[in-house]
Amino acid sequence: MAVKIAPSILSADFARLGEEIKAIDEAGADYIHVDVMDGHFVPNLTIGPVVVKSIRPYTKKVFDVHLMIEPVDPFIESYVKAGADIVTVHAEATKHLDRTLAHIKSLGVKAGVSLVPHSPVSLIEYVMDKLDLILVMSVNPGFGGQAFLPSQLKKITELRSMITATGRHIDLQVDGGINPETARQVIAAGADVLVAGSAVFGGDSREYAARIKQLRG
Ligand code: DX5
Ligand code: ZN
Repeated sequence: MAVKIAPSILSADFARLGEEIKAIDEAGADYIHVDVMDGHFVPNLTIGPVVVKSIRPYTKKVFDVHLMIEPVDPFIESYVKAGADIVTVHAEATKHLDRTLAHIKSLGVKAGVSLVPHSPVSLIEYVMDKLDLILVMSVNPGFGGQAFLPSQLKKITELRSMITATGRHIDLQVDGGINPETARQVIAAGADVLVAGSAVFGGDSREYAARIKQLRG
C-alpha cells in the first residue's frame, strides 16, 4: 500500500507560509494538510479561508482541509472557493453528517470525515458510500506536538476492514503525534495517509525531504 504524507501547516512558520508551502511541496509532500480551528469545537484558533486562498498559488499539491469547527456547514463553501481539494468535517460537529457530506460532494471536491479519540467507528457506518477519506485523530485535537494515543490503533484496524468491505478506495488518514515510530505502527494497523506537523516542520527546511522520507518508512 503506497503511503501518502500530509504535512500539517499548523507547525509551519506562519511568518513565511508561502515559502514553507513551496518547501514541503519540493520536499515530496503528497497532500498539504490545513488545520482549521475555531476556538469552539477545539480550544485553539487558526486558519481562515483568506489564508487558504493566499497560499493556493504556491503549490499544485492537494489541499487537504481539516475543519475542526462547529457549526461547520456555513463555512464549507468558503474553503472550497479558497482552493480546498478535500474537505474533512468532524462527525461530532454536525447534526446531519450525511447531508453535510452530500453538500461537500455537490461542490465538486472530495469529502472526508474525522473522528475524535472517544468516537466509535459506528458513527460513520451509514455514510461510507459518501466518503473519500476517513481521518482518525490520534491526539485530542487542538494543538501540534502532542503525544500519540495508542488506543487509536484498534480503530484504524476496524476502519481498514470497513473500507475493504466497501470495495472502494477511501484514504485512511491518521493525525496527531505521528513520528517515524508511530508512523510504523499506524501503517501496520492499516493507515495509508499520515498527517505530521512537528515531525516535519521546524529548523532547516532542507531537512524536510529526509523527514518526509523517514515517515514513509
Ligand atoms: C491537532 C491537529 C494535528 C496536528 C498534528 O489538533 O489536527 O494535525 O497539527 O501535529 P503533530 O504532528 O505535531 O502532532
Ligand atoms: Zn488535522
